[in-house]
Amino acid sequence: MTNNITLVEVGPRDGLQNEKTQVPTNIKIQLIEKLIDAGHKVIEIGGFVSPKWVPQLADTPAIVDHFTQKHSQSDLRFPVLVPNLKGFQDALNHKAKEIAIFGAASESFSLKNINASINESFERFKDIMIEAKKNNIKVRGYISCVMGCPYEGDIPLSKVVDVSQRMFDLGCHEISLGDTIGVGTPNKVKDLLKALKQNIPVSKIGVHFHDTYGQALANILISLEQDIRIIDTSVSGLGGCPYAKGATGNVASEDVLYMLNGMGFETKIDLPKLIEASQFISNFLKRPPNSKVSLAFLAKHGIL
Ligand code: HMG
Ligand code: MG
Repeated sequence: MTNNITLVEVGPRDGLQNEKTQVPTNIKIQLIEKLIDAGHKVIEIGGFVSPKWVPQLADTPAIVDHFTQKHSQSDLRFPVLVPNLKGFQDALNHKAKEIAIFGAASESFSLKNINASINESFERFKDIMIEAKKNNIKVRGYISCVMGCPYEGDIPLSKVVDVSQRMFDLGCHEISLGDTIGVGTPNKVKDLLKALKQNIPVSKIGVHFHDTYGQALANILISLEQDIRIIDTSVSGLGGCPYAKGATGNVASEDVLYMLNGMGFETKIDLPKLIEASQFISNFLKRPPNSKVSLAFLAKHGIL
């Protein structure tokens, strides 16, 4: 099993979609540049979703234009969320090369988040996938509420496995398992991964933990033990979900990187530079980073 880990940086999308104030486009662009400079190779930079539903992402076209032009020849990946064909067409018009579709293992969450039942959402995903294949666009697939739902509570493991399998069978190049409200604990994560690995190659499975209950690092550790090598993280622990009350940030990229470095995993990401990016956005938001590693680093250097 490889020691190489892909960190998927979701702060600019999952993080900033949840800020009460609109973060200006030029600040988002500077943040993403700093994340690239730190060594991130996969950064989710926005979503072609309805600005009425998520106004914070309304500037996605400008951000995608900037990065697809500037880095058109590089191997960097900039996935963007797409919920339907309209979003797909926008992504195509702005030359995105990778999109992420997002479904849920919970009917209630699916309705609240994308105004569609699970079955309806898969009808939309199928249409998107046909167009994506025609246009040579890679598709990442999210499944929310894999550890529990803000509206329904526990979701049976069989349901999560079923939806994940449908997402994979659709043709997604990787599946990201979202613990949207951060309620999962390690044994539950292990059970899910063991079940999924029976039919989906482990190299195609990623984990996406929000840290609401402080379980994210423990859940990542057990995922690593289950041979997961794709981990979604958010700089400075930014984040939440507008359709999941109480959902806090995703696990902080700095905290995950520190753990991975200590365990001898390889990411090619530079921790001090990542902390710089974290500081940049925290300073803009006028609050301390939501990352223990960043806080420790700043205290050690007399910055806090
Ligand atoms: P709807 O209201 O049912 O859409 O929303 P509609 O098809 O009935 O259209 C209504 C209006 O929206 C029309 O405009 C459409 O043109 C427009 P009008 O005629 O009224 O002026 N519209 C769009 N505009 C821009 N982009 C589009 C688009 N589609 C329609 N793509 C819809 C359905 C899916 C659009 C809406 O529910 C939506 O945008 N939802 C997105 C919600 C969202 O972004 N949630 C956060 C991301 S998910 C997440 O955070 C979880 C994750 O991190 C994993 C985890 O942690 O679990 C991924
Ligand atoms: Mg999320």
